[in-house]
Amino acid sequence: MKALVWHGKEDIRCDTVSDPTIEEPRDAIIKVTSCAICGSDLHLFHNLIPAMLPGDIMGHETMGEVVEVGSEAARTLKKGDRVVIPFTIYCGECEQCRRQNFSLCQRTNRKKELGEKVFGHATGGLFGYTHLTGGYPGGQAEYLRVPFADTTHIKVPEGIPDEKLLFLSDILPTGWHAAQQCDIEAGDTVAVWGCGPVGQMAIRSALLLGAEQVVAIDRLGDRLSMAAAAGAVTIDFERESVIGRLDELTDGQGPQKCIDAVGTESHVSFGQPDTLYDRAKQMMLMENDRPHALREMIYVCRPGGTLSVVGVYTGLVDKLPLGIAMNKGLTWRMAQAHVPRWTPELLRLIEEDQLDPSFVITHIADLDQGPAMYMAFRDKQDSCIKVVLKP
Ligand SMILES: NC(=O)c1ccc[n+]([C@@H]2O[C@H](COP(=O)([O-])OP(=O)(O)OC[C@H]3O[C@@H](n4cnc5c(N)ncnc54)[C@H](O)[C@@H]3O)[C@@H](O)[C@H]2O)c1
Ligand SMILES: [Zn+2]
Ligand SMILES: [Zn+2]
Repeated sequence: MKALVWHGKEDIRCDTVSDPTIEEPRDAIIKVTSCAICGSDLHLFHNLIPAMLPGDIMGHETMGEVVEVGSEAARTLKKGDRVVIPFTIYCGECEQCRRQNFSLCQRTNRKKELGEKVFGHATGGLFGYTHLTGGYPGGQAEYLRVPFADTTHIKVPEGIPDEKLLFLSDILPTGWHAAQQCDIEAGDTVAVWGCGPVGQMAIRSALLLGAEQVVAIDRLGDRLSMAAAAGAVTIDFERESVIGRLDELTDGQGPQKCIDAVGTESHVSFGQPDTLYDRAKQMMLMENDRPHALREMIYVCRPGGTLSVVGVYTGLVDKLPLGIAMNKGLTWRMAQAHVPRWTPELLRLIEEDQLDPSFVITHIADLDQGPAMYMAFRDKQDSCIKVVLKP
């Protein structure tokens, strides 16, 4: 089959590889009808997260049709079922799954020792996302082997196009998770750093969950316009002071809730030199992450407020003003999204036409165009916000 394969930094190729087969009784194989490129894939593209190996297949936003089922997966799946595959692989039975912390499943990371060595405790298995989370082949491919498939799937109805359903795999529940972590109350201002696909979903989720005001921060005009179309007030961080404007919009008190939808690859902000410092340290391998957005969040958040982090960080961050966070009594909440926790609610909103996440798609292309699409997404060529690939 054809698949997008990681060969090293900024080197992803569309290769011919062996078709996946059933390896365990809980496996299923799906024929992929649509898959997407995520901001998290860019961190791998830039080789910022250790533990990718040449030959690894990329991708964790995938949907398609079941073509083969293992004996135990057959309990809940059959050939021909139409499914979206969550990026988190989960068993459904362990203590973390019972608590609905699905991205922390205790049974699905088949490279547990590596996870334990780096994180202290292993987290769950993820598709196409380094050997720290199991080294599972991803779904930017013609076929995908789904381990623990009897639980790791979302059955979706016919009659709704792939484009409206595909993002149940990741960016939609991630944006929703980011807003849920804020425990939004009447009167809240929610500020969202980053207006990429995840930020866009977080902005709409915060509004649906009752935020009085949502403020969207980025530097890219098309992304800010998309946020404004949802009803957000926007801040262009290259032209305005983020902290000054956020204080202005909240009577000098700061937003109660702050969402990080940027993660490790933060860009330089208006009048702030710290990102240049981070970039230099990251290049010298003295720091893993560039936490500029996080620093701004800590500084501007209202005392007693919440920082909700879904942007991905990879390791050590430097010069994080922990003293400010502590003295202001801020609550931190963060996670790789616990995707299935939100599936019933989000699928219902899509089925009832109250939510159509396809608004974010700017590019649809064949799988062989994948390598070029990584470049387009990374460089924001042609106003690229979200790429969907059709194997
Ligand atoms: N926690 C999860 O489960 C989960 C799931 C999916 C993605 N993610 C992570 O979410 C983040 C965003 O993903 P995406 O697909 O939207 O990626 P993206 O790269 O398209 O979006 C990031 C956006 O942040 C903006 N940005 C950069 N520096 C900024 C700053 N200082 N202030 C404000 N905005 C800034 C960029 O211009 C860009 O629009 C990534 O770190 C990704 O790894 C996490
Ligand atoms: Zn993702
Ligand atoms: Zn589990």
